[in-house]
Amino acid sequence: MRVRVLGTAAGGGVPQWNCACPGCSGARAHPERRRRHASLAVRAAEGRWYLVNATPDLGEQIEDCPELHPGPEPRRTPLAGVILTDAELDHTLGIARLREADGVELHTTAPVRRALLTGLHLGDVLTPYTRLDWHELPVEGPRPAAADAGFTLDAVPVSAKRPRYATGLGGADDDAWVVALRLTDRATGRSLLYAPALAAWPDTFQRAAEEADCVIVDGTFWDDEEPRRSGFGSRTATAMGHLPIDGPGGTARRLAALGARTLYTHLNNTNPLNDPAAPQHAVLAGRGIEVAADGMVIEL
Ligand code: MLT
Ligand code: MN
Ligand code: ZN
Repeated sequence: MRVRVLGTAAGGGVPQWNCACPGCSGARAHPERRRRHASLAVRAAEGRWYLVNATPDLGEQIEDCPELHPGPEPRRTPLAGVILTDAELDHTLGIARLREADGVELHTTAPVRRALLTGLHLGDVLTPYTRLDWHELPVEGPRPAAADAGFTLDAVPVSAKRPRYATGLGGADDDAWVVALRLTDRATGRSLLYAPALAAWPDTFQRAAEEADCVIVDGTFWDDEEPRRSGFGSRTATAMGHLPIDGPGGTARRLAALGARTLYTHLNNTNPLNDPAAPQHAVLAGRGIEVAADGMVIEL
């Protein structure tokens, strides 16, 4: 299974258009520090790829990845579909950028589909342009993304955290609002667990992490006070739905205890890890944990 990291930033990106914090200013001064919105591309077969989450940067992310370029026929694309881990705007606004396709294959849980249809009105807005083909992400047992796909997919429920636009939408507060995506290579059995939004670390997620060969998780904030200390927020990281990396309730000690290759993604622009010289990099390296980079390729 071949996975390409298309972006590693939280909502807003690095730099964020209206922000001159040290992380954003640093990325303007040093373009190699720029991070696009968190997303993956996963190869299903020769010349067929799925996106995991559809970000506002989707067009540029495809242009930067030659394996995702169209051709040789003028309108033939290697993009087979989109798999969503949640309904957050930074993971779904890119769906509208796919409207030039004849159809868009979307794999989501039931609450995410409902949010996109009744909160964002994606069906009403996009149906005049393209066809939306919905597939339910299986929560009980993996299945192939498509008959010819070299991997199976399934969702590991994480939390009932809704996007802000979906607060009043109704429907159950079940923990399929945000899931971790498990992709398993059908030939080798090796698996990737991708969880760019972790408001909680339930036992089911712990078990999935113990079974996975590679685990990529939410690294939005370094510590719980970061959003308040930066002056841009009044809530802690945990209250914003993102377990911090460091500290007693942090995710680093859990990742360090796993046998898998472990990486952080979805970095907010306030995260000190945006500075390559920050001492926090040595802390993670000492625990055997990596920070994902845009363009990185992971072979499983
Ligand atoms: C989040 O991860 O908390 C959301 O994506 C925030 C946002 O995009 O506004
Ligand atoms: Mn986000
Ligand atoms: Zn900033």
